Amino acid sequence: MEQYDVVVIGAGAAGMFCAAQVGQGGRSVLLLDNGKKLGRKILMSGGGRCNFTNLYTEPAAYLSQNPHFCKSALARYSQWDFIDLINRYGIAWHEKTLGQLFCDDSAEQIVTMLEQECQKGQVTVRLRSEITAVEKVEQGFCLSVNGQDVSAHSLVVASGGLSMPGLGASPFGYRLAEQFGLKVLPTRAGLVPFTLHKPLLEHLQTLSGVSVPAVLTAEDGTVFRENILFTHRGLSGPAVLQLSSYWQPGEYVSVNLLPDVDLAALLDEQRQQHPNQSLKNTLALWLPKRLVECLQTLEQLPDVTLKQLNLPQQMALVAQLQNWQVQPNGTEGYRTAEVTLGGVDTRELSSKTMAASKVPGLYFIGEVVDVTGWLGGYNFQWAWSSAWACAQAL
Ligand code: FDA
Repeated sequence: MEQYDVVVIGAGAAGMFCAAQVGQGGRSVLLLDNGKKLGRKILMSGGGRCNFTNLYTEPAAYLSQNPHFCKSALARYSQWDFIDLINRYGIAWHEKTLGQLFCDDSAEQIVTMLEQECQKGQVTVRLRSEITAVEKVEQGFCLSVNGQDVSAHSLVVASGGLSMPGLGASPFGYRLAEQFGLKVLPTRAGLVPFTLHKPLLEHLQTLSGVSVPAVLTAEDGTVFRENILFTHRGLSGPAVLQLSSYWQPGEYVSVNLLPDVDLAALLDEQRQQHPNQSLKNTLALWLPKRLVECLQTLEQLPDVTLKQLNLPQQMALVAQLQNWQVQPNGTEGYRTAEVTLGGVDTRELSSKTMAASKVPGLYFIGEVVDVTGWLGGYNFQWAWSSAWACAQAL
């Protein structure tokens, strides 16, 4: 039987980084993945340029039923540590917006860097590996991999969440946690576009491709200010993806399409100067013309000139544009979600080492754990930080 000090399941961001660190510490490591390629999500990420971390990473940017859990790992291996590593490899990067760091050239550079880190640690990598059984034995764990037995003192589960099944996502980590008696919190798609109910969708579909800056507020009071994008299925764009992680089915989302203006004052001013100007042309000064036309077909915009616009109509219009209540009918689900919310309950794990307190030698890192970041590099930073914290303990 093949024997290793550590077996890591999942060659994504967390698994590769952890395997490399453990190997460099002198332990024998086997890194397993069911796919044909290493780091498939990294390659797809950030439009092919990988948004690998965020300058403003802090625990408040993460959702978890146990919000304190992520603090230790994020503090011990921070965004600055990962930036140091990237710089050592000479990978050029830039800040796009809101502290989001991307490779100048390609996400492939991150995968190549992680591969080289694994080579430095003499990690044995085995792709297309089907793990059909995992058992606890006296010395650690025994795994059945492609029909062969492999044993390890410690087992690290880095098999990710359920988003994008086409990229190898599987519930493997959740099932394994349950097999060992660990609690798994309900999972759902996060950082995902909203779908809309039929009549509204049919109107808004004409806006497909239009993007506007907006402020979105969830029913729990969470607020995001970024762009929203109208799509043929509903609403997307960074503000929508961010808010989707805080949205529960049936809830409304408040959309402010003109967040930085006192609309009533602006309309009064325009009325003074151009009383015969149509309301439609006036609003087109501040909003895309296609959006204004669409609001008119939705009968949310009276077909009047500014001097004809009466006070109740103006008040209704301001509410409509600055507190538009949209009730999504759902999300696009795991097919397009960037992340999975929920997962292995962090109350079962040590925040210092990611070890399962009930099962000596078993560790969970990365997205499989109930820690989910905002859009903008926060999820990869969690992968690096949790992987590093775990590796220190092995
Ligand atoms: P990850 O999913 O990366 O890796 C898990 C690995 O386990 C996979 O290789 C999988 O094949 C393997 N596996 C699963 N089941 C298995 C089994 N049964 N046996 C063996 N192996 C198994 N985040 C961010 O911070 N910045 C960004 O730019 C983006 N962009 C982005 C784009 C897209 C399209 C998606 C889908 C997601 C992102 N994300 C992101 C999120 C980010 O990709 C995600 O949070 C991390 O990849 C999580 O890293 P993990 O290593 O935990 O899982």
